[in-house]
Amino acid sequence: MIVSALTPILAPSILAGDHADLAASAHVVAEAGAAWIHLDIMDGHFVPNLTFGPQMLAALRAHGSKLFFDTHLMLAEPHKYVEAFARAGANLISVHIEPAYDHRATLQRIRELGCQCGIVLNPGTPAEAVESLLPIVDLVLVMTVQPGFGGQPFREDMLAKLEKLSGWRSARGLSFRLEVDGGIDLKTAPLCRQAGADTFVAGTSFFKAQDRPRFVAAFAQL
Ligand code: DX5
Ligand code: ZN
Repeated sequence: MIVSALTPILAPSILAGDHADLAASAHVVAEAGAAWIHLDIMDGHFVPNLTFGPQMLAALRAHGSKLFFDTHLMLAEPHKYVEAFARAGANLISVHIEPAYDHRATLQRIRELGCQCGIVLNPGTPAEAVESLLPIVDLVLVMTVQPGFGGQPFREDMLAKLEKLSGWRSARGLSFRLEVDGGIDLKTAPLCRQAGADTFVAGTSFFKAQDRPRFVAAFAQL
């Protein structure tokens, strides 16, 4: 059991919000007491779905959102867009390891732009694929579903990957956050916490929760 020393953070995903009124969905997140919001950015190439662009972040900021924008770029060429998302109001930008581009230079660029940087692994990508980047990231995002759509079932086989990454983190004195995304709810989150996760993306389970402030408080107790 490798429980992270980092305070648990819930990042509700706007993907499960109202796409006809995203400002209202961001307000629901803030009202429920969450500090982070997870923004799923999809290009229809790296994943078979399309969502939002940098203008959406700028519009949420213009509507007064003060939330921490945890921005997940599911893009085939993320290096071309990090500047636009940083300027639009992102606080953390995470990019996937799978597409071929200069990961290290892109992660450094995200930091130069004043944002925290994260690296993301799809379920089929081994932890070793990001091992050399661990010293230069603020967050590692382990996908617990194949990216593209919310509402998919949690993949328990990802727990071993979480344990490996959290083992490396403590053995090497690193301090990156370990985030999970996909099928996370009050049943699957404790499993991930036990395996070393400390940051939890929840779309469907958050927006469907009967009592959202209670849902948020439960994650703070993980
Ligand atoms: C997949 C997306 C989803 C979303 C959360 O590309 O990244 O994982 O954030 O999905 P659910 O609805 O399962 O919490
Ligand atoms: Zn995501």
